[in-house]
Amino acid sequence: MSRSPRPRLAVLISGNGTNLQALMDAIQEGRLPATISVVISNRKAAYGLERARRADIPTEYFPLKPYRDAGRSRREYDADLARLAARYRPDWVVLAGWMHILSRAFLDRFPNRVINLHPALPGQFPGAHAIPDALEAYRQGKIRHTGVMVHLVPDEQVDAGPVLAAREVPIYPEDTLESLTERIHSVEHRLLVETLARLAQEEPSPCDSA
Ligand code: GAR
Repeated sequence: MSRSPRPRLAVLISGNGTNLQALMDAIQEGRLPATISVVISNRKAAYGLERARRADIPTEYFPLKPYRDAGRSRREYDADLARLAARYRPDWVVLAGWMHILSRAFLDRFPNRVINLHPALPGQFPGAHAIPDALEAYRQGKIRHTGVMVHLVPDEQVDAGPVLAAREVPIYPEDTLESLTERIHSVEHRLLVETLARLAQEEPSPCDSA
């Protein structure tokens, strides 16, 4: 993969893109020395695509359905997705609300370079319903707080892998799904930016020292 002075990010999304927005804002404000080289969505209606277009960031819509309809495998989709992302020469692939599990056909193309954001602490509540699952567990007295993590994606396990950063998020008795979601998102927005800024600093590219 390429090494550029400012790490190049390929951001994969499926939805609203508030975390993408946090990255764009941090870059704009000089808090994150990086460049978003492409935003890829598997959903056409993902609002994150609109956020990227408004910021003049290249976007790609890459749906799974045509592959399914043609009887093509998930591995083929993932391999083509990897080829598409690779065209933008990313240093890091950031899964910011990407709601597909990526197979090795994708991951092997970017070893140790795929980062996932998940709204739960390591080992807790994998999958697409982490926030409601945590709220339910809290109401049943099983947990006292939840959290957020950023981790590497080495394989096809769901929301698991070497943890780059994790932060606890409190849950309060009066919390609703909306209030907890809002609190988690605001922590995610900070943690994702901080983690990527740290990675960019820890690992200056060869070009930086030239
Ligand atoms: C975020 O909460 C992210 O952690 C979660 O999707 C949301 C996307 O929000 N990802 C997962 O649950 C991965 N299993 P956004 O589109 O507003 O950034």
